[in-house]
Amino acid sequence: MTAILLTGKTGQVGWELQRALAPLGNVVAPDRSEMDHSNPDSIRAAVRATRPDVIVNATGYTTVDKAESEPDLLERVNVVAPGVLAEEAKRIGAPLVHYSTDYVYDGTLDRPYTEDDEPNPVNAYGRSKLAGERAIEAAGGTHLILRTSWVYSARRSNFVLAILRLAREKTELSVVSDQAGSPSWARALADATAALLRQRDLFGQQGGVYHLSANGHTSRYDFARAIVRIARDISGRPNGWADIRPISSDQYPLPARRPRSPVTDKSRIRRAFGITMPDWEAQLTAFLREFAAAKIS
Ligand SMILES: NC(=O)c1ccc[n+]([C@@H]2O[C@H](COP(=O)([O-])OP(=O)(O)OC[C@H]3O[C@@H](n4cnc5c(N)ncnc54)[C@H](OP(=O)(O)O)[C@@H]3O)[C@@H](O)[C@H]2O)c1
Repeated sequence: MTAILLTGKTGQVGWELQRALAPLGNVVAPDRSEMDHSNPDSIRAAVRATRPDVIVNATGYTTVDKAESEPDLLERVNVVAPGVLAEEAKRIGAPLVHYSTDYVYDGTLDRPYTEDDEPNPVNAYGRSKLAGERAIEAAGGTHLILRTSWVYSARRSNFVLAILRLAREKTELSVVSDQAGSPSWARALADATAALLRQRDLFGQQGGVYHLSANGHTSRYDFARAIVRIARDISGRPNGWADIRPISSDQYPLPARRPRSPVTDKSRIRRAFGITMPDWEAQLTAFLREFAAAKIS
């Protein structure tokens, strides 16, 4: 039976991967106490104890604003750890699947980015994710690096959960309209990853960097409006939802600068593996339906 080492099982994507990868083999999923990504020895020990056939790394330092003021931990988790994992993976001949971000781009291009466009991250998180990619490539083993975007789920904190809460607490919400992305449900990302792993005999030839996020893109403002509109329709309660107003990024300063529109072209992964994730609005509707049903039951 295929042994799959899955890291980051308590996170948004890792949580969904536990379910999505289960039919593919024996999933071994250590948590932080069993495999600490800020400690290379802990990573090596966990890989050597498991001797997996494939490694899926859903761990990451993901708090974009805090990343500006925690450079050491950021470097250990997002740069050193992926490099160590990639070296260990190569040593045992296991392919490594790793998640990166559209924040490796500055978002100033007037067309969707392809994987061949030059990255130029504008914040510490984006720089660390790009350096993590480079560390994996430098190890020289078989790998897939999946650059995803605006992940949400029912777990942890994310844009969708924040808008759902604030839209009921406030009468008016201001949301930036000059940043675009492809909002991706962690569930759909996990399912796409499982579909990739089913074709892992192709990783040797087709390995490398891929964009993997929801089909289509939207602004933060239009995303927030869609969240409220769909949640309101599902709830059957027409009143008591905040009005959403557009503002510019300049009117909403944060510790970390955000790339403007790092919209990605996803045709490479479709050509190589036949994989297209559903449209962002279809994913959001499915998520909100499930979220509402879980709250009622
Ligand atoms: N969220 C997004 O919008 C987004 C967008 C683009 C790309 N990505 C990338 O997608 C991947 C998954 O993101 P996500 O949203 O699922 O992340 P997440 O919900 O923040 O989960 C992060 C996971 O990493 C673990 N972790 C963090 N530091 C660790 C350490 N020192 N040792 C061991 N485990 C550690 C966390 O464990 P604990 O529960 O113990 O903290 C958790 O399981 C990441 O590589 C991220 O950079 C995310």
